Amino acid sequence: MAKLNIVKLGDEVLRKKCRPVIEITPRILTLLDDMIETLHDADGVGLAAPQVGVVRRICLVEVEEGELYEMINPEIIEAEGEQEELEGCLSLPGKWGYTKRPEKVTVRALDRHGKEYTVTGTGLKARAFCHEIDHLDGKVFSDEAVHMLTQREIDELFGE
Ligand code: NI
Repeated sequence: MAKLNIVKLGDEVLRKKCRPVIEITPRILTLLDDMIETLHDADGVGLAAPQVGVVRRICLVEVEEGELYEMINPEIIEAEGEQEELEGCLSLPGKWGYTKRPEKVTVRALDRHGKEYTVTGTGLKARAFCHEIDHLDGKVFSDEAVHMLTQREIDELFGE
């Protein structure tokens, strides 16, 4: 496994519409393993392939430790309710903003064995699913944030 470089906002790869995975090759499996190491090293809750420079529909979500979802070609098949919470992104270090997301989301995806599964998440997990899948369509959370925190608000919130 290898830790990958996480690209930052401004890199055009974050704006690409990612291509579906047609076949789960050894290269894709290595990418998944490297993405997991990168996510854990960064202590994040999610990571999408374009964030490591790969324009493929692959992402990871791990809201609770040890409950890692590897998502290949993920699709939101159901969404309900609404929440407005604070969100950040490994590609936008030091930036935080409030976004509107569904409260409950069901995603259908393939796992690393090519087996289809569905998972339903609420709260933070639902937000993470939406956030990571947005990355696969070239979107970042700040695009449609209800409010991006100012530096002063960040200092107050994180107790500086
Ligand atoms: Ni992100």
